[in-house]
Amino acid sequence: MISRKIFLIKSIISIAALTVIGKAMGKTVKAGSTIKSLKARTALVVWYSQTGHTERVGKAVAAAWKKAGLKVDYGDYRDIDKNSLSKYDIIAAGSPVYYYEVPENFSEWLSAIPYINGKPVAAYVTFGGEGGNQFNTACELANLLADKGGVPLGTAEFSCMSAYAFTWSSGNVDRILKYSDRPNKNTYKAAGDFAIKMLANVEQGNTADISGNFDLRNVIKGSPSILISKLLITGHKVNTDKCISCGKCERACTVNAINSAKGTVDTGKCIVCLGCINNCPTGAVEMKFLGKQVYGYREFLKKNNIIRVEPEV
Ligand SMILES: Cc1cc2nc3c(=O)[nH]c(=O)nc-3n(C[C@H](O)[C@H](O)[C@H](O)COP(=O)(O)O)c2cc1C
Repeated sequence: MISRKIFLIKSIISIAALTVIGKAMGKTVKAGSTIKSLKARTALVVWYSQTGHTERVGKAVAAAWKKAGLKVDYGDYRDIDKNSLSKYDIIAAGSPVYYYEVPENFSEWLSAIPYINGKPVAAYVTFGGEGGNQFNTACELANLLADKGGVPLGTAEFSCMSAYAFTWSSGNVDRILKYSDRPNKNTYKAAGDFAIKMLANVEQGNTADISGNFDLRNVIKGSPSILISKLLITGHKVNTDKCISCGKCERACTVNAINSAKGTVDTGKCIVCLGCINNCPTGAVEMKFLGKQVYGYREFLKKNNIIRVEPEV
């Protein structure tokens, strides 16, 4: 007969395994909700972008919708009034993939928007060149909009250069350089095609099933991965001798962790988005990763003569 102790251990293991499998599975939104209006005249493209890739792709989406005759507003979520979303006939939301998921500052914002029942919504992500849970992240973004009553039309993922500064700062430059030209003209063309396809879906009343894949990265996405990165960082601060008080690091920081005047960073609040180090024009934001000095996106572009192609809007 199975002893009580073994029964308990087996039960705990089963529950833990089910929890892991449950987390690793992506959530599913079934097509079927009805789009309120099949004629789109106004559109919003809203994104979160730290180094500009998601913004550029968003502008390419906006440009395609403008060309198709829609009146389009677009911008970073921090400049968009949450209460304005329900006035648009179609909405696209774009996010970078950070730590295998939609960055928590953007998902929090989307969770706090008023209901947009029956509004057709499209979701896109930009990601760091090679697979980093981009498909599941795009599904997660669509789900956040569906949770608010949005009707998903589809998702897209755009491969870009990774802005994860720890990779090149640790010497792994080639992996990043492989994708250094992205987003490029092809990316903007693909973004435009995506925008037109989403518009056609509205006119035909086509909604999409959004279901993520089984992926173990879903288990470690977000907080566990951020925590691991945090443990490997030392000396995160602003060097006040180099700082020119431009405020770019403070604006990039979505959790108000930086006081550039004092040169301090509240590492408890920090979510390791690297917005500070990636946007500082003078290299005044300092940190070490595994004991190596980290340098940001702007410096990486300069060092490797990388010039970004801008989309036309
Ligand atoms: C803090 C951080 C975490 C990242 N995590 C991932 C990831 O988990 N998977 C991935 O494919 N790319 C990852 N990337 C790369 C970004 O998704 C990619 O560079 C994106 O295009 C940046 O968009 P943005 O310029 O709009 O901020 C990460 C980049 C940063 C800065």
